[in-house]
Amino acid sequence: MKEHVASGSGGGVIRAQRLCRVFGRHGRRALELRRSGRSKAEVEKETGSTIGVFDASFEVHEGEIFVIIGLSGSGKSTLLRLINRLIEPTEGEVYLAGESISRLSGRRVREIRRQKMGMVFQHFGLLPNRSVLDNITFGLEIQGVSTGERRKRGEEALEMVGLGGQGNKQISELSGGMKQRVGLARALATGQEILLMDEPFSALDPLIRRDMQNLFLDIQGEVRRTVVFVTHDLDEALRLGHRVAIMRDGEIVQVGSPEEILTAPADGYVERFIEDVDYAKVRHAEAVMVDPKEVAYEAEGPRVVLRRMKRAGMSSIFVVDSDRRLVGLCEAEEVARILESGERSLSGAIDRSVPSVRPDTPLREVLPLFVERKLPVAVVGERGRLEGIVVRGALIAGLTTAGSEVEEPQEADGAVRERER
Ligand SMILES: Nc1ncnc2c1ncn2[C@@H]1O[C@H](COP(=O)(O)OP(=O)(O)OP(=O)(O)O)[C@@H](O)[C@H]1O
Ligand SMILES: [Mg+2]
Repeated sequence: MKEHVASGSGGGVIRAQRLCRVFGRHGRRALELRRSGRSKAEVEKETGSTIGVFDASFEVHEGEIFVIIGLSGSGKSTLLRLINRLIEPTEGEVYLAGESISRLSGRRVREIRRQKMGMVFQHFGLLPNRSVLDNITFGLEIQGVSTGERRKRGEEALEMVGLGGQGNKQISELSGGMKQRVGLARALATGQEILLMDEPFSALDPLIRRDMQNLFLDIQGEVRRTVVFVTHDLDEALRLGHRVAIMRDGEIVQVGSPEEILTAPADGYVERFIEDVDYAKVRHAEAVMVDPKEVAYEAEGPRVVLRRMKRAGMSSIFVVDSDRRLVGLCEAEEVARILESGERSLSGAIDRSVPSVRPDTPLREVLPLFVERKLPVAVVGERGRLEGIVVRGALIAGLTTAGSEVEEPQEADGAVRERER
């Protein structure tokens, strides 16, 4: 399950400031016209130049998956390539860990691409005459890594994508989905901290695509790279993105968490973009709730509760009374705190004002409860009894997936783990 990054943690690894890119000869003039209020199409008519990206400012935090989404031609690929300077900006700056890359020499930029910033294209650009392993370790070869070390890291990466032991196959022997896995393994093997991905899964059929998304999230949960991910698929964006930037005609029209975008679309364009996600209206909390792995009883002491939480790997736990009516929620830090201060009862650690919903509450109303806090939400039935919990991951899956696929129960501690950053 996707994990969340505390906002601001580690600051912006990538920062784009008013990035613009015009294709054609009259770059400055085109931007001037655009700034004076002319549309992209009008500028194109008047100058013959195309505005690929216009005034894009954003920050990508360390370890986050930042998704760029928009219709075809909206500027996603151009924006991605501006980040690693495969395309030069007409105006604006890109900072990497605080350093402006616009001013670096071409040689230094190539070095950064090699060492720090991998790129994965839609058609991975695998070398057909090389073996799977040689393809994967190609980047390492360029980095000057020794043969033995290359082999080791290549095999580890193959293992990660579920292709262990298949390194000696030729690329031409693989299916499309397998090729995609090799491409992903190659990006993983090089160990670059930043990964730029341009529609890496879009050539796959929906089922394999979903597998790849899950695989990617799993690996990302372990390795935690900073990822900028381009897609034109909203479901994919919501599933993968910690934050999502929506582009229109070269501009970023909204940046926010999936919850923020679904609950407060910035304008009509974004609204139209997300209107397909209407499961929010027709599905209810019941459909995505899971059993809490463990609960705490109000009458218990902090030591026993903390121990139970540790064993189950939970960082928060719902508290009920002896009739299983919801009392509140405890976070592990709070329980540890009162334990340390010598209190015998759990009482002082219980947050009694936690939000709860009913089984028949529409997901649309559940969603806003996750905008501010990522803790699970209690589902409370007859006479206030705790019937289940909704964790963030399952909620998002429930919003973006029709019917059956969601019924498969999610790990109850998904949201709990999300908090453990
Ligand atoms: N090399 C180029 N020369 C001229 N115009 C270009 C070039 N590359 C992109 N453009 C234009 O810039 C705009 C943005 O293109 P871009 O490829 O970034 O869109 P995209 O969002 O990635 O689209 P898609 O979803 O189809 O990949 C489009 O209007 C496109 O026609
Ligand atoms: Mg593109």
